[in-house]
Amino acid sequence: KKRAGILGTGSYLPDNILTNAELEKMVDTSDEWITTRTGIKERRIADKSVTTSFMATAAAKKALEDSGIAADEIDLIIVATVVPDMNFPSTACMVQANIGAKNAAAFDIEVGCSGFIYGLSIAQQFICNGFYKKILVIAADTLSKITNWKDRNTCVLFGDGAGAAVIGEVEGAYGILNTYIGADGEGGKHLFMPSSVSVIPPDEITDKDNFYTIHMDGQEIFKFAVKIINTASDEILKKCGLKPEDIDMFIPHQANIRIIEASMKRLKLSKEKVYINLDKYGNMSAASIIVALDEVNRNGMIKRNDNILMVAFGAGLTWGSVIIKW
Ligand code: ACO
Repeated sequence: KKRAGILGTGSYLPDNILTNAELEKMVDTSDEWITTRTGIKERRIADKSVTTSFMATAAAKKALEDSGIAADEIDLIIVATVVPDMNFPSTACMVQANIGAKNAAAFDIEVGCSGFIYGLSIAQQFICNGFYKKILVIAADTLSKITNWKDRNTCVLFGDGAGAAVIGEVEGAYGILNTYIGADGEGGKHLFMPSSVSVIPPDEITDKDNFYTIHMDGQEIFKFAVKIINTASDEILKKCGLKPEDIDMFIPHQANIRIIEASMKRLKLSKEKVYINLDKYGNMSAASIIVALDEVNRNGMIKRNDNILMVAFGAGLTWGSVIIKW
């Protein structure tokens, strides 16, 4: 049976750093509050000229280079984002043009922070049934552009970034062992951005600060996250016939250190087996997990045969988990 695996990874982070100290000057907050409640110290913020498609393209080029695959070998490009450059064409089509992947189909998926895991799950189906040979899965978000910078409840949490992976057929026991994805539309009201011309015509929008920005009930999302990270871990371990002690590297969605620590404790995973970069980047939405995977890959923190567990949750509400044998 064919198995899909990761052939290469790449990421892109904007240069601009926004520290907690700088946020103290913007809203009524403190480095102490942000650090103890979230674990975040600083985040990257894209310039006006740095769009989601720009970051997605940069990450994609690095993933192609890492995998040794040429752009014209790519059969499909999937971009997970909630901040596309335009409503249409899709950001995936923009990337296709930018990298010259002329043989690729392309589409976006809108799954919030679970986007990379959903993308992997879709790619896995296309590879395993033999329909496609090489797929680029990209996750890119510029949440800074939809952040209400007057709202201390949300503006301290997010950062910008992009990551990409080339997926293709791999040998034997390696690759994506399985994926698990789910959604609960009932919970959608706890995390959303209202902007849509299908709901309110542009000339009727009066409160722009609230229309084009993220709205979040932090406590509801926190409760959901702690619960779903457990369920999604249990489900994928069961599907793969593995136990928590079989996991060599755990890459959870980087939203809040307290959410990560709760799941580490429950899975009884030691610190060395958990990758955390939210102190440097904040919550980069769909990009969080793939940027982290790119870092562990490039820093030599994972080796052949390691079982990598990745778990995400986000707007929708959505969630997803995957185990990869590296
Ligand atoms: N600085 C100082 N005080 C603040 C700040 C801030 N930046 N933000 C909120 N507060 C205040 C609140 O106003 C509140 O004050 P009050 O008691 O006087 O009303 C107090 O701090 C406590 O607020 P809580 O909401 O109870 O704080 P909590 O401990 O729940 O932490 C947080 C808030 C960090 C948002 C937490 O709920 C959380 O992480 N939730 C999950 C968020 C998340 O993961 N979102 C993304 C998931 S999906 C995606 O990635 C897009």
